[in-house]
Amino acid sequence: MPDSEAVTRLKVAIIGCGRVSEKHIRAVSGLSDRLTLCALVDTNPDAPSNLLSACKKKIKKYNDVKAGMKSYIDYKEMLRDMHPDIVAITVPSGLHFQIAKDCLEAGSHILLEKPMTMSNKSSRELYELAESKGLRIAMGHIYRYFPIVSLLHEDMVNGAFGKVGHGSVIVRWGHENDYYQQAAWRGTWKSDGGALMNQTVHALDLMCYLMNAEATSVNGMIARRFRNMEAEDTAMGVYTFGNGALCQVEGTTATFPKEHEASFYINTEKAAIRIALYKGKPSYSIRTAKGKNLAFKYLRRYIKQNGLSYLISVAKNPHYGIYTDLYKSITTGTSPVADGRSGYLAVDMVLGFYRSVLKKNEIELPLPNEFKIEEMAKLEL
Ligand SMILES: NC(=O)c1ccc[n+]([C@@H]2O[C@H](COP(=O)([O-])OP(=O)(O)OC[C@H]3O[C@@H](n4cnc5c(N)ncnc54)[C@H](O)[C@@H]3O)[C@@H](O)[C@H]2O)c1
Repeated sequence: MPDSEAVTRLKVAIIGCGRVSEKHIRAVSGLSDRLTLCALVDTNPDAPSNLLSACKKKIKKYNDVKAGMKSYIDYKEMLRDMHPDIVAITVPSGLHFQIAKDCLEAGSHILLEKPMTMSNKSSRELYELAESKGLRIAMGHIYRYFPIVSLLHEDMVNGAFGKVGHGSVIVRWGHENDYYQQAAWRGTWKSDGGALMNQTVHALDLMCYLMNAEATSVNGMIARRFRNMEAEDTAMGVYTFGNGALCQVEGTTATFPKEHEASFYINTEKAAIRIALYKGKPSYSIRTAKGKNLAFKYLRRYIKQNGLSYLISVAKNPHYGIYTDLYKSITTGTSPVADGRSGYLAVDMVLGFYRSVLKKNEIELPLPNEFKIEEMAKLEL
């Protein structure tokens, strides 16, 4: 970073002080040379102070952070008072669209949690609104910010891996029933969706990023096996991509919560790429035909490019990477790595999958017409 005297500090407000917001506060406080938290908003008046107390030990310069911000219960009042440069939207997914739209209309850049919205049309509308106003949307697609992922993408784009054969993505993100009972919106078709829309959407986004291609069709099936929820707890399907690659997907929350796993496999002409996160521990393998693992080479290149302390920060909290990138994109005029376009394409992939379940058919992507997730409520699971 340049000398802190010369750096513009941007004001960040967070709307929604629930489970994921802690990652946002930690990232913002870790970037205090560039960002300052100006407001916390929640319709529950106790939530901002509960959130601050819960992460007291994890926030750098806690007293300064607390003293420098105001709490609100009405986000519109906060937007009028504070004019934040960046608003992080961490409310239930069914509320993303309206709040994001209001923030963009008020002139703020946004960091929008995944999934972008609950319909392909509204996701696209947000993207186009931001573009028309010259504002940035950074998506909470955390996997794009895992160490070395940006380099793998770069090399895929420059042809270093040759053609992509196929891919496979597994998200076994187990949640017990109490997770669904903690908040009424969770697991409902209207406000959340199931394992695919909530837990798998950003993994699908990563496959597009790594394969450097967009999905052109999908055929999927869903089931509710173990969890008491309205939507599915298990989804399996196959996408085709514009480069001819097939990609299979398994997304589930019906597994044991202590066995969280997200794994990504891409078979290319020149290497087999494996990225896995198991019980919070990441592992990487980029094997050539001769069996040589290039992972350390990538790690060294990543550290040389970004520094060791950045690597440690994003490995602990990928949201740190999203905020770093958003700051850079606002101050230098570039596009965030996980931009608004990635947001609506990922939603389109999920909705296409759900539509194929309803139609019992392969569905072409991008979807030609509007499809809202609430149409899934017709389905008896
Ligand atoms: N990127 C990731 O890794 C990640 C991880 C978890 C959750 N998420 C996403 O983050 C979002 C929030 O998830 P969560 O688990 O933190 O939810 P949560 O239910 O724990 O928290 C949501 C908070 O928003 C508040 N809220 C509701 N309506 C509001 C309004 N109109 N104005 C202000 N506050 C309001 C609630 O009171 C609650 O405190 C979801 O979209 C989810 O998919 C992303």
